[in-house]
Amino acid sequence: MSTVRPQVAPFLDPDTETWSYVVYDHPGGHAAVIDPVLDFDNKSGRTSTDGAQRLVDFVREQALTVDWILETHAHADHLSAAPFVRDAVGGRIGIGEHIREVQGIFRQVFNLEKQFLCDGSQFDHLFSEEDTFHIGALTGRVFHTPGHTPADMAWLIGDALFVGDTLFLPDVGTARCDFPGGDARTLYRSIQRLLALPDSTRMFMCHDYPPAGREHQCETTVAAQKRGNIHVHEGISEEAFVAMREQRDATLEMPRLILPAIQVNIRAGQMPPAEDNGVVYLKVPVNRL
Ligand SMILES: [Fe+2]
Repeated sequence: MSTVRPQVAPFLDPDTETWSYVVYDHPGGHAAVIDPVLDFDNKSGRTSTDGAQRLVDFVREQALTVDWILETHAHADHLSAAPFVRDAVGGRIGIGEHIREVQGIFRQVFNLEKQFLCDGSQFDHLFSEEDTFHIGALTGRVFHTPGHTPADMAWLIGDALFVGDTLFLPDVGTARCDFPGGDARTLYRSIQRLLALPDSTRMFMCHDYPPAGREHQCETTVAAQKRGNIHVHEGISEEAFVAMREQRDATLEMPRLILPAIQVNIRAGQMPPAEDNGVVYLKVPVNRL
């Protein structure tokens, strides 16, 4: 593992409370962009790249070469801006290989066109458990962390772990497991693998939903999670976690943008093909989710 300590620039999307990151070795060096967000106004169906432009501007200001644009999973709460970032500053779009299962599930839900392939070929690269990759002087290692979805990945870059939707900050807990293909027991086991990393490992969240009185934050450590995560601190058993998670998930509404987000994100952030009038449509399956 690389001993270079990566620099991490966080960017909050306030609308969906998503954290995106630019991770890099040094100014003028190499970078990865993690989980960039495309703004989407559900009321008008209009997209905007204003949020993702902040990441692009940062990459240019720091004179970084983008090697990778990494998705921790096919997000259900926001649309990915990965193609916009790639067009602006380069990089290859990577996700976990189990995205194929997620594509298979939602191809049926949305009755997608025959040409839509469930082979992950919409992405530039599919990562597998224990793969390594490089960002300039930094080494990355891949953890397959299913549970929230079948395809979740956590990216360990130097001492910085990008956990996606496995863990939230200690006072918020863990991600839901009730989406198609999700499973609370599987998530518990994925989390235990992350908590087995060295105590000083920095953990960067994909989301923060701060309780009243606290500002949005993005960073904690393995030690702090083991000591204080309200859902999975040390001593909470698998059975207790599963019971808590399933009970809690039964009370949660679907995320506001799940229907548009999934349709776009399983295409690596591309929109579906335009119809014969040149307009792109996103579908709403009635009584299906
Ligand atoms: Fe998610």
